[in-house]
Amino acid sequence: MNQKIRVGLIGSGGMAKSRSRCLKESTDAGYDIGQLTAVCDLIEERAHSAADMAEELLGHRPRVFTDYRRMLDEDIVDAVDVVTDHRSHHTIVNDALEAGRHCLVEKPLAITIRAARSMLDTAIRTGKLLGVAENYRRAVNQRARRYALDQGLLGEPKIVIQISISGRPPQVVVGTPWRHRKLDAGMGWVLDMGVHETDLFRYHVGDVKQVFGSAKKLTPARYFIDALGIKSEALENSVEDAAFALLEFECGATGVWGLTSTGHGGEATSVPLTIYGEEGCLKGDTLFLDGGRRIEVEEFYKDSAPTELKRSQFPGGLTNPVTLEQLEFLRAINGDVELETDGQAGLEAMAISCAVIESSEENLPLQIADVLQGRHTSYQDEINDALDIS
Ligand SMILES: NC(=O)c1ccc[n+]([C@@H]2O[C@H](COP(=O)([O-])OP(=O)(O)OC[C@H]3O[C@@H](n4cnc5c(N)ncnc54)[C@H](O)[C@@H]3O)[C@@H](O)[C@H]2O)c1
Repeated sequence: MNQKIRVGLIGSGGMAKSRSRCLKESTDAGYDIGQLTAVCDLIEERAHSAADMAEELLGHRPRVFTDYRRMLDEDIVDAVDVVTDHRSHHTIVNDALEAGRHCLVEKPLAITIRAARSMLDTAIRTGKLLGVAENYRRAVNQRARRYALDQGLLGEPKIVIQISISGRPPQVVVGTPWRHRKLDAGMGWVLDMGVHETDLFRYHVGDVKQVFGSAKKLTPARYFIDALGIKSEALENSVEDAAFALLEFECGATGVWGLTSTGHGGEATSVPLTIYGEEGCLKGDTLFLDGGRRIEVEEFYKDSAPTELKRSQFPGGLTNPVTLEQLEFLRAINGDVELETDGQAGLEAMAISCAVIESSEENLPLQIADVLQGRHTSYQDEINDALDIS
């Protein structure tokens, strides 16, 4: 039997909290192939709390570090799971790859295209795996949508729409303060939430060819509001919190995409991913076909998708998308499967978000191929310069 893969968790904040539970789910489902041997956070208390959770759920206490380089200096991990703010992804991943460790990094792959490309180059040079933790496409309904589209019921896609306007009060901090700082977060909400959506565009419709974007900073200051309604000191918001774009896909489809992290009146507006094809429309999880037939995609998938496909998409009957992405990474290290969302997929998803922002800066439609090549960087220059990304 193969030895377990020793994993080091770097970053022990909000999103990292799920990692021990996911490992336990995989182990319980018969995939006892990974062991959390080390955890790290700049804030020691957070790293200890991640270690406590691992000990409780997995019966083994990982070593605690506050400097990931010390973790890499020891023979304690074979792979790292990077769950830090966007600013640090490329530095940590490049160091870990150079130190001979496989890397899974949370979305977005990186803070700028140049940073992302450096990670891909290092992965190729070192021969180590680089995966991006993209969970959305692994959800049951997304697999079911893809399966339904693959059956050709819709014909060629022609029109694509996705809109999500937040109902969150406009001045409230979204999650963590760093998300509102350009040098920590990058391109704001269109990168942070947007890469999930661009990954889904690519998954369901295919590559985007051209983007004409408009992005705005609608809320210059943000606040935490406590249970008594008392506001914190103002936090400056230096990222775009609203973005809209016209999209042209390689397949010829045209579309509109919009998302904001701010709104008014507590009223959200949402158009789920909607694809009009030659013979019908997929709206969210329902297919409406010309002639009146209506298909709920999850039922369709459960009733008619081949067992082999279901087993490969939901090994061991697991359905938690974060567990599935983590398990795929471990199995890929063992050579049992390939990474579905590797570094290249991460780069291509973030290039669409990036194109929206750069297109807005230049007030011109941009080709994704050019953005991927690192052209059109007026917005990103400040970040590349400040973080010394070469
Ligand atoms: N897939 C999803 O659905 C999803 C959801 C939320 C967040 N995320 C992603 O997860 C990542 C982390 O987000 P979060 O919400 O957990 O942020 P967070 O601020 O809660 O946690 C990040 C942690 O990383 C630590 N950190 C930063 N630099 C470090 C370094 N050099 N070494 C060690 N630790 C370091 C911070 O101290 C912090 O505790 C981001 O990339 C974010 O986009 C993904």
